[in-house]
Amino acid sequence: MTESNAIDALQWENRRFPPSEAFKTDTLVAGTFMYDEADADFEGFWARQAAELLDWSTPWQQVLDWDLPFAKWFVGGQLNVSYNCLDRHVLAGRGDKVAILWEGEPGDTRAVTYAELLDETQRFANVLKSLGVGKGDRVNIYLPMIPEAAIAMLACARIGAVHSVVFGGFAAHSLRDRINDAEAKVLITADGGHRRGDVFALKPVADEAVASTPGVTSVVVVRRGGNDVKMVDGRDHWYHDLMAAADPICPPDPMDAEQLLFLLYTSGTTGKPKGIMHTSGGYLTQVAFTHKYVFDLHPETDIFWCTADVGWITGHSYIVYGPLANGATQVMYEGVPNYPDNDRMWSIIEKYKVTLFYTAPTAIRTFMKWGRQEPDKHDLSSLRLLGSVGEPINPEAWMWYHEHIGGGRCPIVDTWWQTETGAIMISPLPGATTTKPGSATFALPGIGTELVDEEGRAVARGGGYLTLTRPWPAMLRGIWGDPERYRDTYWSRFEGRYFAGDGAKLDDDGYLWLLGRVDDVMNVSGHRISTTEVESALVAHPAVAEAAVVGANDPTTGQAIIAYVTLRSGAEVDEQDLRTFVGNEIGSIAKPKMIYFTPDLPKTRSGKIMRRLLRDVAEGRNLGDTSTLADASVVSELQRRAADAPHDD
Ligand code: PRX
Repeated sequence: MTESNAIDALQWENRRFPPSEAFKTDTLVAGTFMYDEADADFEGFWARQAAELLDWSTPWQQVLDWDLPFAKWFVGGQLNVSYNCLDRHVLAGRGDKVAILWEGEPGDTRAVTYAELLDETQRFANVLKSLGVGKGDRVNIYLPMIPEAAIAMLACARIGAVHSVVFGGFAAHSLRDRINDAEAKVLITADGGHRRGDVFALKPVADEAVASTPGVTSVVVVRRGGNDVKMVDGRDHWYHDLMAAADPICPPDPMDAEQLLFLLYTSGTTGKPKGIMHTSGGYLTQVAFTHKYVFDLHPETDIFWCTADVGWITGHSYIVYGPLANGATQVMYEGVPNYPDNDRMWSIIEKYKVTLFYTAPTAIRTFMKWGRQEPDKHDLSSLRLLGSVGEPINPEAWMWYHEHIGGGRCPIVDTWWQTETGAIMISPLPGATTTKPGSATFALPGIGTELVDEEGRAVARGGGYLTLTRPWPAMLRGIWGDPERYRDTYWSRFEGRYFAGDGAKLDDDGYLWLLGRVDDVMNVSGHRISTTEVESALVAHPAVAEAAVVGANDPTTGQAIIAYVTLRSGAEVDEQDLRTFVGNEIGSIAKPKMIYFTPDLPKTRSGKIMRRLLRDVAEGRNLGDTSTLADASVVSELQRRAADAPHDD
């Protein structure tokens, strides 16, 4: 083992927060027994979780079939994911228990019980069948945050169809590309949803996308926004019409443990998003396990709230599959955190007496900016645990969350994972782990992590590259349609290991501190966006000759997208128009915060754009040696402009 500075390790943080005696009295895991058990036999450990947490219609014959990098978990086992999320709770007499306490942005509410969710899911499964969807067929879902999103996903799972959910903020081009890559037959969307006091229309975006998706034969439209939409005869159907006519019974067919459950597209280092493949038995085992033990779930008394959108992996795993598999009651909220006022989140926590709250550092930093008087207006004493996900949480935000939201009494679980990992991988166990603000602490029981240096040698202290050393049940099974890309992207940088793309450091006590991406993937407000994707969108504009995009540190969003653009000779374009153009190509989350127009981009003599240097410029750092540049004057000009640019922080 070596001590490494492969990645600059930041300063060390030494505050410690052991679990309180009060929390420990009723926690699920107070000691180290789970780690010990999993260390002794990780396959046996996961097999016990799969057997304890889920109902199987056929037991598996083999826990793990590992042919690096291809894994099969619970080989030969059969289960139905929607049965595990719905039927078994109803059969156990908990049909009247509320599964989803839904709150629309305008303030309308729905409490959906497990029995109702099962009823709707069965009907919608029959609707899908009537539209010609069968086992293995792909169904695209493009919906606001409404219970129908969960129903559509569970209905797919019930009949073995594969869902591919696209975040409602993506633009028509992004939706179109994802539908075409998955070759989906059916698209489920809504007229619109409520956001920031307005109705945002989804159906027109879906129409634009579907104009160039030859495989889509039916579009199902949920009425939510109330906005006018055009329905295409023969292709488009209202959800409520189809549901009214649907057969109420759809038995849950047993599926193979390795049956594809869903695709979820995520950004990589190239311009083309990857369809990450997740299967049934292993995925559900690990999301149920992590949802139960990381959040210390007491399903009879807890009210869970994960603020993610179902369009992201966090929504898949910790709004739909984890909480429902565990029979939890949870809050689902449609809108933005500052409508009608900056205290909306806290008013929801008070109203529903939320006990477990899971959100992102970018949101926490925004709440900090809005001020402590907002949470102080509300009684947050129901909270007993807080979670964080999506990006590194800086110690200052951690402490603010701890003090002003958690009242100093709630453990914080900083959970590291990825779309690819499917479920939480690194996190405290709240009743067992002493936390340090800003550290995700340790790998969970059953998970193998190791930091390595450039050459793949294990690092004992200091910075390195985060790798995963053994397969885990919820791991991605591949990239849709591209097994080679799967191998190259994740398993080739360090032999025999999964490389996550993240840098991290280890302190003297063995705590892990995540440092962010080391590749060309930006993390803006917890959303992954590739620099190449934004560059491709920029150069798609007729006025743009060349573009370079970097993620620069941003106090609120973690990173911000900064673009450097060279225009074609004689061409002109307004910065705002170009931002809108990118928004239309990809979605508003990908709009650059700042665009600098420059006659030239800094390049090495061999013609490579020097992105690292552009990041230094964007972050206002002093530049080191620029002698490898073809034309050093380009950089001084960019620095001068960066210094003149308005700053809004
Ligand atoms: O860089 C890491 C960061 O988010 C990336 C994964 O993004 P995505 O697939 O969109 O999934 C986000 C939600 C799981 C990781 O490679 N990341 C996620 N959680 C953390 C984090 N970085 C630091 N600390 C975390 N807790």
